[in-house]
Amino acid sequence: MPLVDMRDMLQHAYGNGYAVGAFDLVSLDFLEGIIQAAENQQAPVILSLAESHFEYFNVAYIMAATVAAARGAAVPVAVHLDHGRTLESVVRAVRLGCNGVMLDASHRSYEDNVRLTREVVAVAHRCGVPVEGELGYVAGMEGEDAVKHPGRLIYTCPEEACRYVAETGVDFLAVSVGTVHGRFRGAPRLDFPRLEAIRRRVNIPLVIHGGTGLSPDHYRALIARGVAKINYYTALSDVAARRIRSNSAAAAEAGYTRLLQGVREAVRQEVETCMQLWGGSGRAKDVLAHCRRWHEVEHVVEFNADAAMDEKQVHEMMRKGRKVLSRIPGVRRVFIGRSVTPNSRYRYCWIIRFAGTQVIESYRNHPDHLAFADTAFRPIAGDRLTIDFEEW
Ligand code: 13P
Repeated sequence: MPLVDMRDMLQHAYGNGYAVGAFDLVSLDFLEGIIQAAENQQAPVILSLAESHFEYFNVAYIMAATVAAARGAAVPVAVHLDHGRTLESVVRAVRLGCNGVMLDASHRSYEDNVRLTREVVAVAHRCGVPVEGELGYVAGMEGEDAVKHPGRLIYTCPEEACRYVAETGVDFLAVSVGTVHGRFRGAPRLDFPRLEAIRRRVNIPLVIHGGTGLSPDHYRALIARGVAKINYYTALSDVAARRIRSNSAAAAEAGYTRLLQGVREAVRQEVETCMQLWGGSGRAKDVLAHCRRWHEVEHVVEFNADAAMDEKQVHEMMRKGRKVLSRIPGVRRVFIGRSVTPNSRYRYCWIIRFAGTQVIESYRNHPDHLAFADTAFRPIAGDRLTIDFEEW
């Protein structure tokens, strides 16, 4: 139930001087550890899925579990796509259950970054989903020694950041001020004056990628300068891997489940430490009071077909429709059905699940919906009833 609007969640953090952790999860152990930590700490949390990890699991399966965990959580939760690569991956993530997305075009030229991000913002906002963009480049690779995959760190330019936010319409801005993805070698040197300059020009929640390996003072200084979301993965990966290695050392013949013993606990502990350091602990109630709940919508259409159409033809029309309508951004599922009750008022039914209330309108006006409805459906379904339901 406490899936909440990520804009409200991060505005609350931004306005109250703390940061919400966005923890990348790669398994059910991670998911359970993160949720357990948030509940123990009574902290808001972002369950984050990074596209770079999608080669390790079936994202549809993990997302289903993530959404179930978010709904069942006793604290406010948002489900976020981290480092989305394309508009298609963003649309897919929203379809699978995300209510926040990041498009990472930070490795591109400024012009390309703006163009791609604008496209994503237009589509995501029509679904009511907020967007994180990134300007500047945070080098390295999550879960590894940053020095192995250094790339070239490019600091965010404050003037450009101001233009970028105005030109793209992003809701949150990831900035590059000296952090790296993965393990640091040596001490991190963060450019706080730069962050301050960005904050003065950009009045939206700022995001730090490469949250692993910073000191409590670093975190405090980042948060004091407008950082409201901290992305964190490598340290979770490291505590999990350490646990597996020690399980293996203690019992060389250990099987799979024994090797994984304690991973969830290790992740939980690490996440709890972050929540305490970043100031999210104990905020859950207040956040819930200030956040809009995130509601999916069930768009229900019941109808009777013209007498000239036999059941087979109706089925064929609906199957074709399902294919077209499923691809519209913000649509999560298209159910087509036939009544099992004899003599029911309506014989056929569509139930189309929307990601959120704003999809009601964007779906209605989408050219693919209009084309299908006007040519294939409405002409044969004059007797129909349509209602949009949101969960109470
Ligand atoms: P770390 O892996 O350095 O914690 O960074 C995670 C991150 O920024 C994911 O987007």
